[in-house]
Amino acid sequence: MSTVTLDKVKTIKTLNNIAQSGLNVFNKGNFTIDNDSENPDAFVLRSFNMHSMEFGSNLKAIARAGAGVNNIPVDKCTEQGIVVFNTPGANANAVKEIVLTSLMASSRNLFAGVAWTKTLDGEGDQIPKLVEAGKKQFVGKEIKGKTLGVIGLGAIGALVANDALDLDMDVIGFDPFISVDTAWNLSRKVQRAMTIEELFANADYITVHVPLTNDTRGMFNKETFSIMKQGVHILNFSRGELVNEIDMAVALEEGTVGKYITDFPNENVLKMKNTVPIPHLGASTQESEENCAIMAARQVKDFLETGNVKNSVNFPNASLPYTGKKRVAAFHQNVPNMVGQITQALSNYNLNIADMVNRSRGEYAYTLIDIDNEVNGDIVPKLEEKINQIEGIVTTRII
Ligand SMILES: NC(=O)c1ccc[n+]([C@@H]2O[C@H](COP(=O)([O-])OP(=O)(O)OC[C@H]3O[C@@H](n4cnc5c(N)ncnc54)[C@H](O)[C@@H]3O)[C@@H](O)[C@H]2O)c1
Repeated sequence: MSTVTLDKVKTIKTLNNIAQSGLNVFNKGNFTIDNDSENPDAFVLRSFNMHSMEFGSNLKAIARAGAGVNNIPVDKCTEQGIVVFNTPGANANAVKEIVLTSLMASSRNLFAGVAWTKTLDGEGDQIPKLVEAGKKQFVGKEIKGKTLGVIGLGAIGALVANDALDLDMDVIGFDPFISVDTAWNLSRKVQRAMTIEELFANADYITVHVPLTNDTRGMFNKETFSIMKQGVHILNFSRGELVNEIDMAVALEEGTVGKYITDFPNENVLKMKNTVPIPHLGASTQESEENCAIMAARQVKDFLETGNVKNSVNFPNASLPYTGKKRVAAFHQNVPNMVGQITQALSNYNLNIADMVNRSRGEYAYTLIDIDNEVNGDIVPKLEEKINQIEGIVTTRII
């Protein structure tokens, strides 16, 4: 595979502090990081709110080091042909570790036990005696041999499921939309639940790793609690709204649910019995921030250098190995004859196609075409203009 040499320096502007390991990605190649730039080629950010920003004419890419993109006006970007990236899975290991930590710690009543021990401050020499007398209230359960139900076997769920097997748990998973990639990575020892009810009925511990959608909102409620084993522990490191909190409060009060461990505390949660409220620490690790920054930077770099798109929230994923010859990267409406018109423009300049890929996403599509001939530098702007004139083209770059 050829290495890429951009003919013009591309300017990257960061809108939040981005881990240095991510910024280092731009050390190789023709890039400059300039946070004073008025018209950068790309933004890299975390949670900076971009909704009121005007975009400059050079802007081609925005990368969010993280998963959610609520802080980015994605529709406006799509209309202007600006690709928006996020970094799915970059924080999966961080979340997996806190899930397994909380699973074991709560099963052993560690959180409550530590909080109680701290109340003994001031008891002086009596403390060891008080500890021995009081510890029986915190007798826990081992997780070995128990069944963990994992709902959603994506980046996080699959890691949790595989590692729980190594902790000698039985694991049952439910994910009707599992991706091929995850299915390859999942241990064959993870039992497949055909329905969510099957998982609910068999699990001693349930951990949920699904996005919040109309289908998943409130999936933990009084009907589903009634199917579960008495005293089940539920771990929620996905979204607070997956749980009907009124029903959860009752289930915890009655003991139907033995414990609720959640990364999403609020006023209701803090009032619930047997709840472990965690201050949204799921992805809060140094490594996770670095992974997100590196992934975001690599995706932007690859897009600016080759036009390849991976992990975009508005463009379809599309890549071709970069050969070093000129490439057309066109973002356009998903209507008939767009590819035909682009290839016609190429043939007008006597240019032959070596390889191409065309992928669509909803109303838009993205086409990469590698040109076989050497392309004279003078032709490039003319060809770019010609393609941009085709009705339905949003943006074209010749790289
Ligand atoms: N606590 C935190 O700090 C933190 C950090 C990262 C992610 N999250 C949350 O974790 C969730 C999962 O993250 P991920 O990276 O594993 O996402 P992912 O997209 O890799 O996996 C989600 C999985 O859920 C499955 N799914 C969707 N709807 C389902 C349904 N109705 N029933 C069962 N499975 C269903 C999908 O098929 C997919 O495999 C995210 O949506 C996010 O809300 C929280």
